[in-house]
Amino acid sequence: MDKVRLGASHLQVSRVCLGTMTWGEQTTEADAHSQLDYAVERGINFIDTAEMYPSPSRAETQGASERYLGSWLKKSGRRDQVVIATKAAGPNATLNWLRGGRARNHDAANLKAAVDASLQRLGIEQIDLYQLHWPSRNVPVFGNNVFLPKKERASVPVEETLAALDDLLKAGKIGAVGVSNESSWGVSEFIKQSEMKGLPRIATIQNLYNLTARHFETSLLDETCYRENVSLLAYSPLAFGQLTGKYLDDAAAHGRLTLYPPSWSPRYSRPATVEAARQYAQLARAHGLTPAQLALAWCYTRWFVASTIIGATNLAQLQANIDTYGLALPPDLIKRVDQIHATITNPGQ
Ligand SMILES: NC(=O)c1ccc[n+]([C@@H]2O[C@H](COP(=O)([O-])OP(=O)(O)OC[C@H]3O[C@@H](n4cnc5c(N)ncnc54)[C@H](OP(=O)(O)O)[C@@H]3O)[C@@H](O)[C@H]2O)c1
Repeated sequence: MDKVRLGASHLQVSRVCLGTMTWGEQTTEADAHSQLDYAVERGINFIDTAEMYPSPSRAETQGASERYLGSWLKKSGRRDQVVIATKAAGPNATLNWLRGGRARNHDAANLKAAVDASLQRLGIEQIDLYQLHWPSRNVPVFGNNVFLPKKERASVPVEETLAALDDLLKAGKIGAVGVSNESSWGVSEFIKQSEMKGLPRIATIQNLYNLTARHFETSLLDETCYRENVSLLAYSPLAFGQLTGKYLDDAAAHGRLTLYPPSWSPRYSRPATVEAARQYAQLARAHGLTPAQLALAWCYTRWFVASTIIGATNLAQLQANIDTYGLALPPDLIKRVDQIHATITNPGQ
């Protein structure tokens, strides 16, 4: 498995990252440990988690994903073989059980509390990459795509957040910093503040990117991240499983999109997303690929994706998804993908 350096940080990670969002919900601790053993054996050294995982998030299960990773680190003794990324949740009224869900939750007190709790659950001394899960300020995220000034709210200025992260870096509790669900304005502001005030520079942006949501390419983020050396960690490469084609064959197929109410993430079940998935599945099969292979290979081979964060609820899925790494997509297939994209543009955005 190839490795890539994250931004200007010291971190060298595999081009495929293991996501943990299902651990503690769809995935048991034993299965999570099997996934970790298998992924590390296959050359993956990069694990992504979050204080609020598993998802969908509930007060009763919160923290289980980090705890499962922590129990594996203790049992396997492989702490030095993996790069661990976790995240601090942003403000969200429905997460009022998580540090109060407050708007000011990317300030020094909140970030220190979040980092200390994650370190404890993970049972480690330092988090390698610490990410802000979504912005403190008003930004449309998770399927809301329109920026509305009327939704402006109190938020923590970027400079204040970076100063808090600087303290955590100096204390040795985190090793590098990143953002997630950010906009190009946000990335530019983080870079500007770090350069003006001598504060830490973000190494990564963890944003949605898959065949049904390619807005990273057109939201000015690709150029911004290229010029500012911020590495994209692409999440949900299979659009929550929609791009595997299983729901096209059987709308009631067992999986995340049928186990949970569509209100969790309606963007993956929109009629246009389903239609795009149908066309990509047909295209994949015509080229002798599974729909999941096409969707993953698409992310694995984009020049601007540093590492693709995959998710799996069983070992067979994990194996298939790692096996796809290294698959080259022929130019005529890429051309057809772009044609479908031009007709149904970013339905899963
Ligand atoms: N920063 C953020 O806001 C954010 C948001 C989302 C995710 N993430 C990160 O990115 C990671 C990956 O996201 P994701 O889980 O949404 O990725 P995804 O690739 O879109 O969906 C993964 C899910 O698809 C199904 N699946 C995977 N491989 C399959 C296969 N070969 N055949 C059939 N079904 C398959 C499984 O669910 P079923 O078995 O239930 O179908 C699996 O849990 C997360 O764990 C998390 O670390 C971050």
